[in-house]
Amino acid sequence: MNRVFIKTYGCQMNERDSEAVAAMLRARGYRIVQDENACDVMLLNTCSVRDMAEQKAIGKAGYLSQRKKRNPRFVIGILGCMAQNRGAALLDALPDVDLIVGTQKFHQVPDHLDNLRAAQEAGAVLPTRIVDIAEEAGSQNTIKDHLLPQDEPGRAGTPLPADASGSQPSTLNSQPGSGSEPLPQVTAFVSIQQGCNMDCAFCIVPKTRGDERSRPMDEIVRECEELADRGVREITLLGQIVTSYGRRDYQHTGGVSPFVQLLERVNAISGIRRIRFTSPHPRGFKDDLVAAYGRLEKLCEYVHLPMQSGSDRILRLMNRPYSRDRYRQIVDDLRRVRPDMYFSTDIIVGFPGETAEDFEQTRALFEACNYDMAYIFKYSIRSGTPAAELADQVPDEVKEERNQILLRLLEQNSDRRNATLLGTTQEVLVEGPDKKGLGYMGRTRGNRIVHFAAHERLIGELVPVKINRASTAVLYGELELAGVEP
Ligand code: 5AD
Repeated sequence: MNRVFIKTYGCQMNERDSEAVAAMLRARGYRIVQDENACDVMLLNTCSVRDMAEQKAIGKAGYLSQRKKRNPRFVIGILGCMAQNRGAALLDALPDVDLIVGTQKFHQVPDHLDNLRAAQEAGAVLPTRIVDIAEEAGSQNTIKDHLLPQDEPGRAGTPLPADASGSQPSTLNSQPGSGSEPLPQVTAFVSIQQGCNMDCAFCIVPKTRGDERSRPMDEIVRECEELADRGVREITLLGQIVTSYGRRDYQHTGGVSPFVQLLERVNAISGIRRIRFTSPHPRGFKDDLVAAYGRLEKLCEYVHLPMQSGSDRILRLMNRPYSRDRYRQIVDDLRRVRPDMYFSTDIIVGFPGETAEDFEQTRALFEACNYDMAYIFKYSIRSGTPAAELADQVPDEVKEERNQILLRLLEQNSDRRNATLLGTTQEVLVEGPDKKGLGYMGRTRGNRIVHFAAHERLIGELVPVKINRASTAVLYGELELAGVEP
């Protein structure tokens, strides 16, 4: 039972956690497989931020019970936020689940699987279940392993334990269309922090991810350097509230916050060509961070800045300590420093008590900020959060109507932005073959996906691409490289 399939729900943080679990499992001799029908262990790394995300994972786990009926040795694990949020209670609805591992215990997954395997081999008849959702001091430092193609067994630099000698290369990072040699990984997520103390009234994250804890700056920088040495060119720093990074552990120096100090240090790593981060909080988006966009050349001019609502009254009810004016000021300040700045945001429509007038405030601010991308969510009741207790829940049809209004605006913005890009030449970081294997894909500094014809040897390079066509979500173009045949 050493073939593991990991299915990830939710945010980039969850993707990063899954990658680290995969790397740890592989170092233990497990195989990470791409085909969910060909695994012995299925791990669902879950999300709790909205009810829909939980229902999807519960549905999947329920469906997997049939597979366990056919093969009692098949192992089902639930990891991450929903495991943390619901704990052993999940077993009431999902009695066939073997393993429940919370957000501070990802690094224990290999031990738990080893133990389940040992119990099976010892002929355990009763279901053997493991539930591990305790808090653990220092757990923010345990998400550090990366799964890179260079880790393939038999390649230099990464000795595998003896019992892994028969294992096959993992396919988690290999790209469709590639030959037998794994392609280099060009972009990587790096976790800088876990948890959040902001207590937004709608949000389950303080419960699922715990208190805000930062990783030591030196360790983060070392991880980025190692990634750069292995060919990674773009780093996305991840945390629930990155603007608070290190606030308890490091001093401001010369008016520069610990987060900006971290950006400076990553900017100084020679192999790294681009830096992104997600998510900041408007409250912590101070002038030093705005100014960083004018002086750190690797910091991409793309900012994801969650607005949530454009109504001061709703922001107060949400316990979001900023005003619509302050939010607008940050956007304007950033555009002054970088007139070519791209913006994205998170919006919740239908927060309890949101009136037509409140929504109009959101719509107007949304329009004024001219987002390139936005994640628009219908408010979802999360039990245990303060907003779940509020009267005046908004009917679903109203939420849907408001959702559609913002989606239409977003589509117009995106089309307008694309029109300005047509005919221009953009700097694109070549990430690899596109999903259909027809050509290659990469991103502009503004985070737009571009498809174009290229060659494998350009993976990891910054290349000029002339944009000649666009759909709402994707750009198409041609390499503008003298002497390079696509
Ligand atoms: N309902 C709807 N959306 C939510 N989000 C967080 N909690 C909820 C909820 N209860 C959204 C916020 C956040 C994003 C990750 O998810 O917009 O920024």
